[in-house]
Amino acid sequence: MKVTVAGAGYVGLVTSACLAEIGHQVTCIDIQKEKIDLLQSGRSPIHEPGLEPLLEKNLRNEQLHFTTNPHRAYSDADIIFIAVGTPETRDGSADLKYIHVVAHTIAHYIEQDVIVCTKSTVPVGTNELIQQIIDSRKPPNLQVEVVANPEFLREGAAILDFFHGDRIVIGTRHPEAAAFMEQFYLQLNIPIMKTDIRNAEMIKYAANAFLATKISFINEVANICEHVGANIEEVAYGIGQDKRIGHHFLKAGIGYGGSCFPKDTKALVQFGGNLKQRYELLEAAINVNKRQQSLPVKKAKETVGSLHGKKIALLGLAFKADTDDVRESAALTIVKELLEEGADVTAYDPIAIPNTRRIVGNAIGYTEDIRQALQDTDLAIIATDWDQIKHLPLEVYLTKMKNPIVIDGRNCYSLQSIGQYPITYLSVGRPGHPNANNMFE
Ligand code: UDX
Repeated sequence: MKVTVAGAGYVGLVTSACLAEIGHQVTCIDIQKEKIDLLQSGRSPIHEPGLEPLLEKNLRNEQLHFTTNPHRAYSDADIIFIAVGTPETRDGSADLKYIHVVAHTIAHYIEQDVIVCTKSTVPVGTNELIQQIIDSRKPPNLQVEVVANPEFLREGAAILDFFHGDRIVIGTRHPEAAAFMEQFYLQLNIPIMKTDIRNAEMIKYAANAFLATKISFINEVANICEHVGANIEEVAYGIGQDKRIGHHFLKAGIGYGGSCFPKDTKALVQFGGNLKQRYELLEAAINVNKRQQSLPVKKAKETVGSLHGKKIALLGLAFKADTDDVRESAALTIVKELLEEGADVTAYDPIAIPNTRRIVGNAIGYTEDIRQALQDTDLAIIATDWDQIKHLPLEVYLTKMKNPIVIDGRNCYSLQSIGQYPITYLSVGRPGHPNANNMFE
């Protein structure tokens, strides 16, 4: 089938490469020429395990093309996926300007009947708006059906998720479009849920809101654990054994980041607010997350006093391991707060330094050598659970640091192994916190 994907961002690229891999003729269009040139040479602008080999292979066998030319992209497509960004505006709502531009462009350039499938996360009602925009501008003899098809890919595991997702949601009331989409996805062998457009749009927001709330929930429990001397890992395992709760997304830490949860939770709160329907639980989850990101610096101050002039190693910059993405990363909050305190910061990350440098500049030092980051430091803060950090021999903290004090925001080490070294170690929701002893005072 002739497939066009609008947007060579994260979702667009993974969708393009994976659809080409299963035999479709895919054209991916983006307005950024440098990005398209890079992709056309087989290189990926984002770090995603397994993506570049898929791009290279499908470019070589001409299943996949990149272009900035809308006529080439849209005129003879059987199906068009919209995968452009919906960034956060100043008030937290989703900015739909790229969606509008794409809808206008599609209407202008199509020359045959087509299904338009929205993968971008958009507020309820947006797909109906896309349908209106296209209907009012397309050639009158052509039929266009807009389908909501939200995406649930995780960064770092996106290729795996594409081929082995938990479900595919198809939102349309049009029986032919629903049948077409079902047939399109059949070979992936993933359960398909057919529903209407608004339900599909809402499913995406509700899924992200629920997962974000689950993380804030476990972080709140972790903070209580610290005060009562309990261990969040035991507690999370214990509650997760209940099938109604489950084990996923119960890892306590320094809060969620990334391109989806922070943006989509705020958009849903904003969207509800516009309808005079406050989403108080999600507002609380967002606030908890904000506070959680600030806990490492608070703990650092409680442990060593003033951070002014202190030499601090920040281990990890990416919002999670296996990505170079630093959007809404807790590490950036930590950097900001450490700089406000007057600390001298050196950050380690295996791949996220270029993206961080674009935001933070040279206000901190950077190194891809973890030992160098720790050299002569007064304190280390762990912000990302990279394997390189988890597998670091613990004696390195003793040999390299001036004072072996480690504030671990990701619970990278077992208490048993770290307990064998004279390291002051504060993790999230596990015993070892000074406050724990004060509970009966
Ligand atoms: C998320 C959703 O999982 C995905 O379905 C959606 O399409 C996009 O948003 P992603 O942002 O790539 O995916 O990362 P994810 O693995 O979900 O983690 C998000 C954040 O939550 C990370 O900062 C991670 O460190 C944090 N997290 C996750 C926790 O702190 N604890 C957990 O138990 C799980």
